[in-house]
Amino acid sequence: MMAIGDRPPTAMLAEIATALTALLKPSAVVRCQEPLSRRTTLRVGGPADLYVEPADEQDLAVTVRFCGERGWPFFVLGRGSNLLVRDGGVRGVVICLAQPAFAAVTCEGTTLRCGAGVRLKTIGQEARRHGLGGLEFLEGIPGSLGGALRMNAGAMGSWTFEVVERMRFMDHQGVFAERDRADIEARYRSCPLLLDHIAVAADLRGLPAARAAIEAKLAAFNQKRWESQPAAPSAGCIFKNPASIPAGKLVDQLGLKGRRIGGAVVSPVHGNFIVNDGQATAGNVLELIDVVRGEALAQAGLQLETEVEIIGEDLPPGQPGGDCISQS
Ligand code: EPU
Repeated sequence: MMAIGDRPPTAMLAEIATALTALLKPSAVVRCQEPLSRRTTLRVGGPADLYVEPADEQDLAVTVRFCGERGWPFFVLGRGSNLLVRDGGVRGVVICLAQPAFAAVTCEGTTLRCGAGVRLKTIGQEARRHGLGGLEFLEGIPGSLGGALRMNAGAMGSWTFEVVERMRFMDHQGVFAERDRADIEARYRSCPLLLDHIAVAADLRGLPAARAAIEAKLAAFNQKRWESQPAAPSAGCIFKNPASIPAGKLVDQLGLKGRRIGGAVVSPVHGNFIVNDGQATAGNVLELIDVVRGEALAQAGLQLETEVEIIGEDLPPGQPGGDCISQS
């Protein structure tokens, strides 16, 4: 019998992959032991037992029901920009809405209807193309709409749910529904409904604006980002901002910028980013998070809460490193 956290044998995974593939459309992707370090912006972490890209909504429902019937956990991956995957990888199925069926953007009046797989950068560009303002803040967030909805991602003083009019989502039994914004709870960096539902599309509200005004806003946001945030691989902000002080400012005041464990470094540019110098393991990043949290508690009495989502299993003791970019 397998212990929880053990990697399933390859033959068993291959058998499950074959069974699932038979249920999905030909363009769906099903792979075994897919390295997730290449699918996260932090570039660390071990493999997913199974990696699935459903071809469309029906495939997504089939995949989720398949997991339910077998008692396999699943996780929905966006662009991996707010994600820390542990070095032992992810048991169960990682589902990614990366196929074209989830990547459509259509414009009706001042509304952009976008699939959950659409990049936020694309939404910013499409809004500009259609002369719609108010969505500029999304352009520089390196994620997909699905992830931004789940996290209520924000930047430049705005949050995703400020511009959502309606959302389409699926429950874990494969049943789809839609809800108006007024009926969806959204908090700082969370949307409770999406803890046990999967966002598949949303209508975003823009405001008619002059092209020049939109471009000026995009340029100002880009400049702020380039000036204040690191370009090296990271998972964005590591900690939520406590009510009393931005986490980055606190880390800065604590003198922790530049602190390093292995290949993981507290960014000298912004204290709330941990960057990968190319050699980091997830273990390095997790240790560094603990160091920062420990110092924040000891020196400032503040309990920092991680903003980045942490998933997967640690490596068994004594096994060094995980998949890291330098090994791939
Ligand atoms: N600051 C410092 N030192 C630092 C970093 C920041 O003193 O090393 C100071 C800044 O000077 C500023 C204040 O802290 O006075 C806040 O910094 P910043 O404007 O960079 O905003 P933030 O609160 O650190 C938030 C979001 C970011 C988002 C930016 C820009 C959170 C946790 N972070 O950062 O979101 O890009 O605003 O709008 O809410 C993310 O979610 O992953 C993320 C990067």
